[in-house]
Amino acid sequence: MTVAIYSSTSRTKGVKYAGSKLRLLPHILKLVRQTGAETVLDGFSGTTRVSQALAADGVRVTANDTSDLSRVFAECFLTAKPREGRYAKLIESLNRLPGKDGWFSEHYGGDPASPESIGPDGLKKPFQLHNTRRLDAIRDEIDRLSLSRCERSVALTSLVLALDKVDNTIGHFASYLREWSPRSYGDLRLEVPRFTRTIDGHEVLQEDAADAAERTPADLAYFDPPYGSNNAKMPPSRVRYGAYYHFWKTVILNDRPELFGKAKRRKDSADDANYSPYEDFRFAPDGEFVAVNALRDLLSKTSSRFVLLSYSSGGRATRRSLEAVMRGCGDIVAAVEVDLRRNVMAEMSWTKEWTREGGAPNREYLFLLAR
Ligand SMILES: C[S@@+](CC[C@H](N)C(=O)[O-])C[C@H]1O[C@@H](n2cnc3c(N)ncnc32)[C@H](O)[C@@H]1O
Repeated sequence: MTVAIYSSTSRTKGVKYAGSKLRLLPHILKLVRQTGAETVLDGFSGTTRVSQALAADGVRVTANDTSDLSRVFAECFLTAKPREGRYAKLIESLNRLPGKDGWFSEHYGGDPASPESIGPDGLKKPFQLHNTRRLDAIRDEIDRLSLSRCERSVALTSLVLALDKVDNTIGHFASYLREWSPRSYGDLRLEVPRFTRTIDGHEVLQEDAADAAERTPADLAYFDPPYGSNNAKMPPSRVRYGAYYHFWKTVILNDRPELFGKAKRRKDSADDANYSPYEDFRFAPDGEFVAVNALRDLLSKTSSRFVLLSYSSGGRATRRSLEAVMRGCGDIVAAVEVDLRRNVMAEMSWTKEWTREGGAPNREYLFLLAR
C-alpha cells in the first residue's frame, strides 16, 4: 500500500542538520501513537525536532544527545516555561546591542564587499563580518547577564536559529561556500522561539545513548544514530557530527578553543578526539562495523517495550547486519520505507527487499520493534 505524505506543517524548530528527521515526523508520530507509548526516550535527539513533535503530541519525552547544541535546544523547547512575554525583553535587549570586533569576527567573519567569502587570513568564511560583529556583542552579553539556565538556553537557541538564517554554508561547518550566499547578506535578528504548550516532566540528558537507554525507563525508545556513508572511500571523520557542527558548540560554550584547518574547526572535533562508536564505520576484529556492534550493544541495554529505529539508505551498514541486530532485540511489528524524493511512503512487508546493497538513494526506513 502506498500513501501520499501529507505536507508537514510542523511547528518544530531546528537548524540545518545532516540526518534531521523533519520530513519523517508524520510517520514517526503515527508509529509512536500506534504503540500507545506515553513516555519516549529520543536517544540521538540532534535538532530535537522529533522530541518537540512528540512533546506536542502529548508524550513525556527524555531527549538525549552528546552535543551541546541538542542539549540547549532541548532545554529551550522541552523544559523552559513557555512564556514568550518573559523572554521578549531579553531578546529585544540583545537585538539592540551594537556590533563589536571580537573572537568570532577574527576567525569566522568575511568582507561582504568582496564577491568571494574570503577573510583577511585568505580562508573562506561562514558569515559576513557585520553578523559576526553582532554575534561577538550578543554572545558576551549572554555570559555577562545573570540568566537562569532556562533563560540562557532560550537566548542561545534564539541566537543559533538567527545565525542559521544568515550563514554561508551548505548545512554544515566542515567547509564554506566560496561565493557569498544570498542569505548571508541579511542581518542577524533574534526572535523569541515559538513554544508549544506540552505536559510537564520532560527530561534532558547529554550522555552516550547506551547510558541514557540503560537508566531511562521509557515505554518506547526512538533511535536515530549517525549512519555514516555508503561511500567506502569517505573517511569516517567526514561524517562526524562534532566536525560538522563544531561552530555551534563554540557559540554555546563561548570558550574560544584552539582551532585548526581551513574551516577553523575546534581542536576537540579532530579525528582522534570526541569519539563515538556510532560514527565509527571501520571494521571491528569480528568483521562487523564498529557502529553496528555499538547498535547491538545499545539495543541490549534498552529496557523499553518498544524500539523505533531510523535508518537511511545512504548508510554504511548492510541489510544483513542490521537485520541480525534487530532480530536479536525483538519482533519487527512495522516497517516503513519513505522515498524522500517522491514524497511517498510505503508500508513494507518485512520479507520484501528493503534496501539494495549499494544504496537505493534518498530512502529512509523506520522499524518498529516490540519485545
Ligand atoms: C542522525 S542525527 C539525529 C538527528 C535527529 N533525529 C533530528 O531529527 O535532528 C545523529 C545524532 O547522534 C548524536 N550522537 C553521536 N554519537 C552519539 C552517542 N554516542 N550518544 C548520543 N548521541 C550521539 C549526534 O550528535 C547527532 O546529533
